[in-house]
Amino acid sequence: MPDDIAAQLRPITADEWPRFLRSMYSVFGDEPTGQYVDTPSPVAELDRSLALWDGDRVVATAGLYSLELTVPGSTVPCAGVTWITVSPTHRRRGVLTAIMRRQLDDVRAAQREPVAALWAAEAGIYGRFGYAPASWRGGWSGQTGRLRLRRDAGTGTGAVRPVERDEFRTAAAGLHEQLRRWVPGNMARDERWWDRLLSDEPEHRHGWSPQHLLVHTEDDGTPTGYAMYRRRQRWNDEGEPEGRIRVGEVRSTTPAAYAALWSYLLSLDLVRTVETSMASVDDPLRHLLQDPRALHAKPVDALWVRVVDVGRALSARRYPAPVELVFEVRDEFCPENTGRWHLRGHPAGAYCDRTDRDPDVVLGIEELSAVYLGGVSLAGLHAAGRVTEVSPGAVTQASTAFGWPIAPWCPDDF
Ligand SMILES: CC(C)(COP(=O)(O)OP(=O)(O)OC[C@H]1O[C@@H](n2cnc3c(N)ncnc32)[C@H](O)[C@@H]1OP(=O)(O)O)[C@@H](O)C(=O)NCCC(=O)NCCS
Repeated sequence: MPDDIAAQLRPITADEWPRFLRSMYSVFGDEPTGQYVDTPSPVAELDRSLALWDGDRVVATAGLYSLELTVPGSTVPCAGVTWITVSPTHRRRGVLTAIMRRQLDDVRAAQREPVAALWAAEAGIYGRFGYAPASWRGGWSGQTGRLRLRRDAGTGTGAVRPVERDEFRTAAAGLHEQLRRWVPGNMARDERWWDRLLSDEPEHRHGWSPQHLLVHTEDDGTPTGYAMYRRRQRWNDEGEPEGRIRVGEVRSTTPAAYAALWSYLLSLDLVRTVETSMASVDDPLRHLLQDPRALHAKPVDALWVRVVDVGRALSARRYPAPVELVFEVRDEFCPENTGRWHLRGHPAGAYCDRTDRDPDVVLGIEELSAVYLGGVSLAGLHAAGRVTEVSPGAVTQASTAFGWPIAPWCPDDF
């Protein structure tokens, strides 16, 4: 059956987009709204879409975005898996398996993207295809009465200003382009992705205000930070304000700008609760608070990564400590990766190729994918029995080498 399905999967045309979109939304229990219901959004890559048809009905959908992902010390082209749905009438017959097979075959054949990544609707779906959670988002909430900055927090002499979209976009895009290169898990954003991030259609606000946009500038006018948030104003039965803000992204090139932006956000009049859902687990805000327990965090898995081509993926990242080890990798879904790989890596470069030498460490592709961005400990996976150490000390060495000083973080949900 999966072979039959694979043969029937094909990219859609622009005319077919409305049917494709409606099928996808209905599986998610929703209806499409907004600007791009009849025509594909500019980020859509229809030549990388896949649909399964039953007569004139779309019964499965899938797509890939051509992204650029920051990995430790570098950036790599990355296939961003999206639009994955199978209609209830066709579920559990191997359609998703056929889609995953086709996507990974296509990505490998094109030889451009050594890794793929996705956001998983449910955590039980993608491990069997070699994807693993590689970054976390530290969603948190707190009460403004307790979220006070430390007395020694330096907020500098610059200024935080609410700005209009165009000014925000110019400043934020410039800053993001510098900052995203340092944080594994970040994605490059071209004009289309900034359009998408700032689109702010009323149908998608779900009771929240329009986006509020802030820029932090130095005394000479140079932008050094930006923030985005939405607000929901409520009053309780006693007439007390119970305003809430949901903070999107807060980023800056200096610690003072970061503290100044948070100082602004935490002292908005009539606001009692602050929440975020996409913050980094390494958010410096935690270190800026007088009372770090005021921040109630619930980290959950965020970007899932799949190493598609072991040699190219491991050669593409950097390693904070010198490492020379042989890994024996098992990859049942992409057997081309199975075998022994000799990695020589250090902070300035890396090389990874096939070898016949005896392995130091044996692991599966899921485990390799989990540690790829530097946010999951190989020693932790070893402790869970998911990695085998052949040469004594190899897991400690590999764990140190695969780590990274900055926790991976992906604020871009696709
Ligand atoms: C998740 C979904 C795409 C699976 O499609 P499908 O065609 O039924 O999947 P397959 O038949 O290829 O299943 C492959 C395997 O994955 C398992 N699987 C599928 N969905 C799963 C889930 N949600 N949780 C755990 N396992 C799942 C199947 O049981 C099967 O296991 P097996 O090989 O041991 O029998 C489909 O159920 C769906 O569209 N769900 C709602 C939308 C969604 O969550 N999309 C994902 C967006 S990230």
